[in-house]
Amino acid sequence: MNKPRNEVSEQELRRQKEYCERIAQLLHQKKQGVRPLACTKTYGCQQNEADTELIRGMLQQMGFGFTENPAQSDLTILNTCAIREHAEMRVFGNLGELSHIKRENPDFLLAVCGCMAQQDSVVEKIKKSYPYVDLVFGTHALARFPELLYDKISRGRRVFDISGDEQGVILEGVAPVRKEGVRAWLSIMYGCNNFCSYCIVPYVRGRERSRRFEAILSDFRTLLAQGYKDITLLGQNVNSYDGGEDGPDFPELLEALAAQPGDFRIRFMTSHPKDCSKKLLEVMARCNKVCKCIHLPVQSGSDRVLEAMNRRYTAEHYLSLVEYARSLMPQITFTSDIIVGFPGETEEDFEKTIELIEKVRFHSLFTFIYSRRGGTRAAGMPDPISREEKQRWFDRLLDVQNRISREENAKFAGKTLRVLVDGLSEDPKYPLTARTDGFQLVLLRGSPENIGRWADVKIEKSSTWALFANLEG
Ligand code: SAH
Ligand code: SF4
Ligand code: F3S
Repeated sequence: MNKPRNEVSEQELRRQKEYCERIAQLLHQKKQGVRPLACTKTYGCQQNEADTELIRGMLQQMGFGFTENPAQSDLTILNTCAIREHAEMRVFGNLGELSHIKRENPDFLLAVCGCMAQQDSVVEKIKKSYPYVDLVFGTHALARFPELLYDKISRGRRVFDISGDEQGVILEGVAPVRKEGVRAWLSIMYGCNNFCSYCIVPYVRGRERSRRFEAILSDFRTLLAQGYKDITLLGQNVNSYDGGEDGPDFPELLEALAAQPGDFRIRFMTSHPKDCSKKLLEVMARCNKVCKCIHLPVQSGSDRVLEAMNRRYTAEHYLSLVEYARSLMPQITFTSDIIVGFPGETEEDFEKTIELIEKVRFHSLFTFIYSRRGGTRAAGMPDPISREEKQRWFDRLLDVQNRISREENAKFAGKTLRVLVDGLSEDPKYPLTARTDGFQLVLLRGSPENIGRWADVKIEKSSTWALFANLEG
């Protein structure tokens, strides 16, 4: 079925571009020719990083330059995350810290957008308790950011906009301003239809919608031409990618991109285990440019908890995927997300998670203590286990995983691995960072002109977090 794609119309794109030009004129007058500066801060996942890159694209059209320092900026935008309470508290904390800039510089503009800003309760709180925030817009209003900012600047009043269809739109035609370097994000789909019972994402990001294959391919070629070499395809559930009637599904998309000429590799995230097909694993195995690593969030090793989470797979199914992937790609690395202390989880359930982790031996894990999100199904479930008990489980999980990571990394000592040197580290003895195909961090001795180059390096030693090698030896 060819789903309607909900792309923002050409006409609307033009309208927003006009607002960018008007803002550029207004600010040029106001600043008497001095280039205005914008500062963007991103909280949350790679989707938000990618959205920030689009926002920076729009800001560039408005004539802004960029600074990392909010106090030096004319406009600071916080692109927020609502996934856990902790993420929201960080944003409110940072908003508090920014109030002094407004006191010192009444012309300073402060905007809040992203997943938190898509929730009524948050918008109400900002309206009442953070009167110095000038503009709030939700994820569904992203494409209208220029118009909303123009409204704020030209009329001077506070602007709040979380309107928009929960189906969500697809914004094409805005050139993102990416971080320099060798790694880039490339969104292929947006939104989520899965409604895992603990998760806020489907409520703040709208329904699944996939970009056109041609648009993705064109962006991909641009990234290669710009020199990016490690490209991560992004979506809340990339396995749901739907290229339309004659278009590719996700494995076909991956294969088509991997067939492009050039010196690059591709990763993707996130993959939902319920939709991770044999076809996908087979494409990974046969395409040299697709990294042999997969982020496959399992969340729990207990079928009872998985069902309550509405994950729609069992631990056994998950293990069968791991086994099949390893039969095709013995070197493949797995990473995962785990939630500890889901409502109603017992110690026995938790032990099943530990069992699963011991069986899979993940390269690394992202571990979270369950955080109640208003409006989700799990928010109404009884949650009798104390925070202290959950913390004990969490610490135990970390101990187990740290041991596994350390043991797995130790297996690489003495081996030669192909890495892409991607940046500077904070370790003076090993000043460069690099990543293997399996996304293992390698700290390197060597000089910065190697950044952006591929190298075969012999691993000297390892720790829980990293491998160590000498680029010149
Ligand atoms: N779409 C991805 C996950 C996106 S959110 C997927 O389904 O795999 C990233 C991770 O945050 C999730 O995998 C989950 O482990 C964690 N998470 C989501 N909601 C949470 C909550 N309410 N409390 C604690 N962790 C949560
Ligand atoms: Fe959240 Fe589940 Fe969707 Fe992932 S698949 S974003 S965990 S609802
Ligand atoms: Fe957070 Fe929104 Fe991503 S809630 S994890 S930034 S989709």
